[in-house]
Amino acid sequence: MKFRELGPSGIQASVVGIGTWAIGGWMWGGVERADAIKAIHTAIDEGVTLIDTAPVYGFGVSEELVGEAVRDRRDRVVLATKCGMIWHEARGNLFFTSDENHLTKKGTIKVYQCLAPDTIRYEVEQSLRRLHTDHIDLLQTHWQDPSTPISDTMAELLKLKDEGKIRAIGCSNATPAHMDEYQAVGQLDTDQELFSMLDRKHEEANLPACAQRGLGFLAYSPLGQGLLTGKVGPERTFGNGDQRNFNTRFSPENREKIRAMLDLFEPIAGDKGVSLPQLVIAWTLSQSGCTHALVGARSEEQARENAAAGDVTLSEGELETMRAAIEQYAL
Ligand SMILES: NC(=O)c1ccc[n+]([C@@H]2O[C@H](COP(=O)([O-])OP(=O)(O)OC[C@H]3O[C@@H](n4cnc5c(N)ncnc54)[C@H](OP(=O)(O)O)[C@@H]3O)[C@@H](O)[C@H]2O)c1
Repeated sequence: MKFRELGPSGIQASVVGIGTWAIGGWMWGGVERADAIKAIHTAIDEGVTLIDTAPVYGFGVSEELVGEAVRDRRDRVVLATKCGMIWHEARGNLFFTSDENHLTKKGTIKVYQCLAPDTIRYEVEQSLRRLHTDHIDLLQTHWQDPSTPISDTMAELLKLKDEGKIRAIGCSNATPAHMDEYQAVGQLDTDQELFSMLDRKHEEANLPACAQRGLGFLAYSPLGQGLLTGKVGPERTFGNGDQRNFNTRFSPENREKIRAMLDLFEPIAGDKGVSLPQLVIAWTLSQSGCTHALVGARSEEQARENAAAGDVTLSEGELETMRAAIEQYAL
């Protein structure tokens, strides 16, 4: 496993992180708690130190599972969570309404984008309790809140850092202009954005912006939510409540198109003795400016396979061949 620093924070974290949105069950058709804990334990045993979660993933469920999983191994992990998507009060912008009562048993939940200082403090206290820890290694603003000045948000984050409740500060779903606003007040360490072979807009945006600023760039959904694993064929169906049922990217035509792209990767994967998910994760980590990949895993097997991608190095020639196939897919 390779390690890189989370921007200027001085914190080293495995280049492959485990993302725990799906583990929270919400929008992914539920969760088997025992499988989730096993997935996290396996990832750690295979060298993963970076664990990414958020309060909103399952409305506390993902953080609780992560907390349970790392309770007896807290010193081996770098815990990254988020703030700014709240449901305990109606403040900021209404972002969406969730109606997954069958999973959460909490009825309809309205989620607001809010990064007000007092709600951040409230959220951090809840996260610390659910994660069974006295500090969060990386706290990220999940979505940007146009109703709170970033200087107010950042001032509170810096206070929390002074108090030892958080060690580093990140943003997510942000623009380079947002980063400038954070950096005008204090030290920003990372940015977390959607980035994969299927989602490359940050090649021209936040990837170079992070590199210029010396920030860590954490890629989310690097496997295209499973599409890039080679395991989502035409016959694959998703369970009740899994958002992929409604995502047009999972249409039969697109699955076929992606399969054709993956077929072009097969010879490289074969020569290197790696699987397609490992090759795809390694490609993500080879892109200029991308320091870490947050990869979702719901089982022990997936966690083991994904962690091993942290040892894969791709040559210039392999990267060129892959890029040609990716460009062809994008046409
Ligand atoms: N900041 C944000 O706004 C934001 C947004 C989205 C995600 N994230 C973070 O990024 C993390 C990863 O993103 P993601 O979960 O959306 O997508 P992803 O990592 O691209 O895909 C994860 C899904 O792919 C499948 N998978 C994973 N490894 C596999 C393997 N080796 N073989 C076959 N299938 C495999 C699993 O689903 P199945 O087994 O069900 O197919 C898994 O749930 C999240 O967990 C979260 O921490 C952040």
